[in-house]
Amino acid sequence: MPRVFNFSAGPAMLPTEVLEASAKALLDFQGKGFGIAECSHRGKEFDGVIDEAIARTKSLLGLGDTHDVLFLQGGATALFSQIPQNIANGPIDILVSGEWSQKAAKVAKEAGLKVNVVATSEGTNFDRSPLPGEWKLSPDAAYFHVCSNETVHGHRLTTWPEHANLVVDASSEFMSRPHPVNRAAVVYAGAQKNLGPAGVVLVLVRKDLYPRIPKSVPGLFNLQKLAESKSMINTPPTFGIYILLETFRWLERQGGLAGLEARNAEKANLLYQAIDGSGGWYTGTVAVKEQRSHMNVTFRLPSEELTDRFVKEAALQGMVALKGYRTVGGIRASIYNALPLEGAKALAQFMKDFQKKAG
Ligand SMILES: Cc1ncc(COP(=O)(O)O)c(C=O)c1O
Repeated sequence: MPRVFNFSAGPAMLPTEVLEASAKALLDFQGKGFGIAECSHRGKEFDGVIDEAIARTKSLLGLGDTHDVLFLQGGATALFSQIPQNIANGPIDILVSGEWSQKAAKVAKEAGLKVNVVATSEGTNFDRSPLPGEWKLSPDAAYFHVCSNETVHGHRLTTWPEHANLVVDASSEFMSRPHPVNRAAVVYAGAQKNLGPAGVVLVLVRKDLYPRIPKSVPGLFNLQKLAESKSMINTPPTFGIYILLETFRWLERQGGLAGLEARNAEKANLLYQAIDGSGGWYTGTVAVKEQRSHMNVTFRLPSEELTDRFVKEAALQGMVALKGYRTVGGIRASIYNALPLEGAKALAQFMKDFQKKAG
C-alpha cells in the first residue's frame, strides 16, 4: 500500500524500513517463535535489545561514559517534573522561547522551585528565540533549561548554549543533526517525533549529578536508580524501545547524524525558498531567519479560507497533517528525519502551484 507524505508534528512519520523490520520482530524475534513484545524484559532477548539500544545511542551521538542513557515512560512532560525533582539543588534558569519551554517553567514553579526566566519572547507571540545577548543568567543556578527546537513555533537554537549545567528538551530535533551532548547535563527527547512511537522518552544524564538526588525521590523516578537498572525498575515499553533500536540502525545506514543534518537542511531549504520566493504571499511565522527550524516549518497564507483549501488540496495529493498548531494557525510542515527528500520537493512544488492558482 502506498504511503503518503505525513507532515504530522508527532506522533510522526517513521521510516518504512524501520516499520517493516519492527513488524517482523513483532511476529517473530530472531526465529524464536515469539515476538519481541511477547518476551520478558528480564530475559536475554530484551536484555540484548536494551544493550544494543544504549550502545547505538552512544555511538550515534559520540557520547562518552560520563553520561547514562535511559529509555523511560511518561513522555517529555514527565521530565519537566523529574529533572527538578532530581537535580534542582537551588534556583534554576530557564529560557522561555515557546510553548514547550513555557510549560517546563510552569511545572518547575508548581514544584516550588525558584525559577529565573532568563529571557522570554512571549511578548511577540514566540516568533523567535531571545538572542543570547538578551539572556540574564544567574550565577548560582542549579541548571539552565532550554528547548532546542520549539515544535509549535518553528524555531530552533542554531547552536546549543554553553553552560556548566545545561538541560535540553530536544524532543523535536533529537538526532536530526549532531548535538554537543557531552557538554550537557541532561538531554531529553520524547520519541514520537524523530525516534519511534509515543510512550518512550530518551534521556541522557551526566553521572556526576547523581549526588544531588535527594533521598526522598522514589526509586521509579530516581535517575541514578533508573540508570543502574538499565531503565528496568519496572516493565519498560519493550516494543517501543525495540522500534527505537531499528531507528538507530536506520540512522547509521543514512550516514549517521551528519548525513541526516545535510538531508534535513536540503528539505528545509526547499520549503523556505518556496516561502521567500512567493513575493510575500506565504509569510513565515519566525522573525529571525537564522533560527528557522529544520524540523517544523511554519507559515501563513493570506486568509483562513485559503489555508483550509491548502490543507484539503494537499491531502488529496498525498500530503497530510499540514494544519498549524491551534495557537499559531497557518500551516506547519513537520519534516522530521523520516520524511524523504521527495516529500519536501512535492510540498514545495505544491506551494508554488497553489499560489499560481489561487494567488
Ligand atoms: C519540544 C517538546 N517538548 C515536550 C513535548 C511533550 O512531549 P510528551 O507529549 O511526550 O510529554 C513535546 C511534544 O510535542 C515537544 O514538542
